[in-house]
Amino acid sequence: MLDIEFFRARFNTYLENKLTTKAPVNLYEPIGYIMGIGGKRLRPILTLISTDVLGGNYEEAMDAALAVEVFHNFSLVHDDIMDAAPLRRGEKTVHKKWDINTGILSGDVMLINSYQYFENYPADLFKSLIEVFSKTAIEVCEGQQYDMDFEISDEVSVPDYLKMITYKTAVLVAAAMKMGAIIAKASKNTQDAIYNFGINLGIAFQLQDDYLDAFGNPENFGKQVGGDIIENKKTFLYLKAIELGNTEEINELKNLFSIKPQNPREKIQTVKEIFVHSGSADVTRNEIKKFTRRAFEILESLEAPDNKKKILEELGNKLMNREV
Ligand code: IPE
Ligand code: IPE
Ligand code: MG
Ligand code: MG
Ligand code: MG
Repeated sequence: MLDIEFFRARFNTYLENKLTTKAPVNLYEPIGYIMGIGGKRLRPILTLISTDVLGGNYEEAMDAALAVEVFHNFSLVHDDIMDAAPLRRGEKTVHKKWDINTGILSGDVMLINSYQYFENYPADLFKSLIEVFSKTAIEVCEGQQYDMDFEISDEVSVPDYLKMITYKTAVLVAAAMKMGAIIAKASKNTQDAIYNFGINLGIAFQLQDDYLDAFGNPENFGKQVGGDIIENKKTFLYLKAIELGNTEEINELKNLFSIKPQNPREKIQTVKEIFVHSGSADVTRNEIKKFTRRAFEILESLEAPDNKKKILEELGNKLMNREV
């Protein structure tokens, strides 16, 4: 049976053959760099698996998978500028290795490239895929704007947060899968079901991302641990701590999330202690399980061979327990 590693390897080979560095080097080198320093390749793998699970030929989904991964990497290059992040996948972020303008422009090319990969599809398929992709791309930008707006707002609710992460992260995971379903010529109902699976998986994925941002191991996490705390991100961890903490903890958190100290070490330490002591860290772990379970419920009712659905279940379980 085809497994996750098989799809990852096939995708990486396909990607390698597509990347070329040409002039002007300062435009294209950063693209090869960010695409080449790794990444889990979650989204393209999901596109390929989705096509395969629904009875299509996964090879036909390669260009859509490539589009999704290049778009994702574009969003990371710009996100790292917006989040002032120094590290990505254990290496310098593009704007740190080059500069901010390089990050902006190389990112722009990647966004345009991602659209070009769809040109290989016949007209009817092209139109269906682009429709999903463009809608999703705009939603990602909306999610990113909410994420930044929330940094300076102290009136963010849990539903606000869930909407924000649905837009900035889950819709791309969901669209990656829906495009796989479209390529497999699945029914509208099935397309919607797999999209909903992706939304729930994507929400669990971002909750886990937020959890690791605070509690990941700096040795292998690949990003700056505590980056969200430094940037005053209103994550689920923060919102739940405000809900569950005692008065002293709440006041301290609110105060710490209204400043950006020159040396953030102590702030990060204190905030993490409050996340744990208030019970927020545990509640977050449960929330990750809850959304993963919801995804699995949708998977159960999906009409597809059980042995193939198992791959998606395995992936969901792996993501929940990941450290990177
Ligand atoms: C990071 O995505 C950005 C989020 C939406 C959380 P990934 O965790 O998939 O990053 P890579 O591609 O594996 O590095
Ligand atoms: C990123 O969310 C979402 C997008 C790139 C659209 P984060 O800012 O949490 O992602 P990381 O933690 O930098 O990978
Ligand atoms: Mg970020
Ligand atoms: Mg961000
Ligand atoms: Mg993050």
